[in-house]
Amino acid sequence: MGYRVAVIGAGIIAGSHLKAMRSMDALAPCAIADIARDRADALAAEHGIPSYADYKQMIEKERPDIAVVTLPHYLHREAACFAAARGCHVMLEKPMAMSASECDEIIEAVYAGGVKLMVGHTQHYDAVNLAAKAWIDGGRLGRLTMIGDRRHQRYDTPTRPAWFFEKAKAGGGILTNLGSHSIDKIQWLTGERIASVTSRIRYAEMRGDIEGGGSAFLVTESGIPATLSQSGYPGAVVDETEFRFTGGSMKLLTGRELWISEGGDYEQVPVPPQPDPFVRQFEDLLGAIRDNREPECSMAYSRSVVAVVESLYRSHERGAETQVER
Ligand SMILES: NC(=O)c1ccc[n+]([C@@H]2O[C@H](COP(=O)([O-])OP(=O)(O)OC[C@H]3O[C@@H](n4cnc5c(N)ncnc54)[C@H](O)[C@@H]3O)[C@@H](O)[C@H]2O)c1
Repeated sequence: MGYRVAVIGAGIIAGSHLKAMRSMDALAPCAIADIARDRADALAAEHGIPSYADYKQMIEKERPDIAVVTLPHYLHREAACFAAARGCHVMLEKPMAMSASECDEIIEAVYAGGVKLMVGHTQHYDAVNLAAKAWIDGGRLGRLTMIGDRRHQRYDTPTRPAWFFEKAKAGGGILTNLGSHSIDKIQWLTGERIASVTSRIRYAEMRGDIEGGGSAFLVTESGIPATLSQSGYPGAVVDETEFRFTGGSMKLLTGRELWISEGGDYEQVPVPPQPDPFVRQFEDLLGAIRDNREPECSMAYSRSVVAVVESLYRSHERGAETQVER
């Protein structure tokens, strides 16, 4: 019998976590909660576990070893702190919380509860991203000089849940949600934190009170410049990160392809297969629990991603370059 895992939130991403745990001997789903009881019931029936409408009641009654939090962003702090205070380890969906100060509250609750918490930054476990990291770390292309990250895809799709369009519940729009993936990708692949941000954000004609897109100029702590550009308006889909080195360049199409140039045209390179990213994520958390250490994706790291997202909005409001809060 493995660790008993309760899932808080039975929405779109909950199924990916449940599928991953089903394939792992070390984990056993034990219950699921959602205020939309029909959603909890449907996943509960599929996995042969009890369902709850109230996640706090579920945690008190089931006493799981691990809680997986897949809630709207404004509830991450509350649920993570509640679970940690009851002695549950936590797998928390990205972004860690709505602000760096909320992340601090979570970190404090995790230390007080004597548990481990990991934010599910899936980018770290994607096969193509892992191959890109091996190229960067291998040094064959020379020193990294600059990065360009572009992610454009219609944000207002019929399947996107309504809370994503409320700033009070989501924190922001595409720059919060997909921006946290891009910021994570830049920081993790370079092994550096972003130190400053200059951004301009567009709000025209987007549903709710969130932004529709924006562009930012980021500088890492060692001075590497990076551009980040995201549009949630209709148009051709783009998801591409380009790294320029002193001796070549690399085009990363996360989840799909990796292209390398050592001077000439780009050539596609093979990508070794990897296990399901959601399985690898759980393995990272399990390693941290067993060895009593931080997961590879640490809480301080996850907080830094939230701090950069906050800086995107702050820089736009100020109309000026903004230093990322440490
Ligand atoms: N890692 C990834 O690639 C990835 C992909 C999608 C979503 N996510 C993240 O996962 C999280 C959830 O996103 P989603 O797309 O699954 O959203 P979703 O809206 O489909 O799921 C959230 C669920 O939480 C439930 N809920 C809301 N308030 C609740 C409460 N008080 N108690 C219990 N349940 C409550 C909702 O009814 C809903 O079913 C977000 O943080 C999102 O950013 C990550």
